[in-house]
Amino acid sequence: MSGARHLYVHLPFCAHRCGYCDFVTLVGRSEQHGGYVDALLAELRLERELLATEVETVFVGGGTPTFTEPHALARLLSSLPDAEEKTVEANPETVTPGLAALLQEQGVNRVSLGAQSFRPHLLATLERVAQPDTVRRAFYHLRDAGFDNISLDLIYGIPGQTASDLDADLDAALALGPEHLSCYELEAKPGTRFTHAHGAELALQADAMEMYFEVVVERLTGAGYRWYETANFCRAPSLPHGPDLRSQHNLAYWRGRDYLGVGIGAVSTIDGTRWTNTPRLAPYIAALGSGERPPREHEPLPDATRARERLMLGLRLDEPLELVGSSDAVDADALARMERLGLVRVRRSSSVGAHIALTPRGRLLGGGVTAELLA
Ligand SMILES: C[S@@+](CC[C@H](N)C(=O)[O-])C[C@H]1O[C@@H](n2cnc3c(N)ncnc32)[C@H](O)[C@@H]1O
Ligand code: SF4
Repeated sequence: MSGARHLYVHLPFCAHRCGYCDFVTLVGRSEQHGGYVDALLAELRLERELLATEVETVFVGGGTPTFTEPHALARLLSSLPDAEEKTVEANPETVTPGLAALLQEQGVNRVSLGAQSFRPHLLATLERVAQPDTVRRAFYHLRDAGFDNISLDLIYGIPGQTASDLDADLDAALALGPEHLSCYELEAKPGTRFTHAHGAELALQADAMEMYFEVVVERLTGAGYRWYETANFCRAPSLPHGPDLRSQHNLAYWRGRDYLGVGIGAVSTIDGTRWTNTPRLAPYIAALGSGERPPREHEPLPDATRARERLMLGLRLDEPLELVGSSDAVDADALARMERLGLVRVRRSSSVGAHIALTPRGRLLGGGVTAELLA
């Protein structure tokens, strides 16, 4: 085994829990940040042999990694393996010149900034702390500190959002000139406080989602961004051999590569097995404090499951997916039908086997086309 080349580190702490959020998060707890970082580093030491000698990407996600107490955050970042791409997720209100400098000093070279929207009423609905100017200021602090690879997250389909709100959000995001943009449909889990509060509006937004998605793709590709994954866009390199601005860490997930995840709730997929750490802080810290692995759920990944996942994730990308090893997962009749309808492109070559990719129209229909293709 050559080892996983991709590492995910989960920092769960947030100042406040946003109503729509379904991630593993904990509010406040500043007195526990240091202890949690000790546990993270202990887990990393226990699992070090699962990682390749050369790690390609490290992604520190949350929660709000940049809400973590600065000494604990610096201690964590300085102990992580070197990697070509090192991303940290940041909430705008936490980004000060000091925080931006800390990230730079610790070798972070990519920041993913959770803007979500630039419309005050939509930020309020999402229960965000940041105002539009907070997002802009955070972006400029990062630029001033030297970051040349910044991603902005936007959400659409927010209760109360109109088509012109979405246009204004895209204008505001484009005006900042980020290297990368992630634009997500709002997902509201049934039974949550958020869904109770906004049920009727969420149903209206669901009807508009397809149209919003088309607007997002049209506006961002029109502005010169590459639509490289269903919800992700990056600036094309300005020079022929310029940097590849896709998220290399997320590309590894979409390409079905192995990855190690550490922290509460973190998922790892290595050598045909997937495991998920306990989402609970106390048992996580207690186990690692006594030199043991945290409580985990293990799930074997049979070849057929991996082939289906590879297809579902691979078809989200704009690059052709090699069918070797996945051909049993594809319904040949459905593939021929989708090809005739102009939703899928198939490249057949006797030397390298078939490659398939969704056409732009197929990508706009997205999940529906992939579901048809699955045998
Ligand atoms: C791990 S989250 C947290 C990032 C950061 N704490 C923040 O709130 O900005 C990463 C991204 O997922 C997206 N996200 C979170 N909850 C979502 C939801 N319910 N529906 C759609 N996107 C969501 C947001 O765009 C967010 O920036
Ligand atoms: S700040 Fe981000 S991670 Fe924390 S609750 Fe809000 S959306 Fe979730």
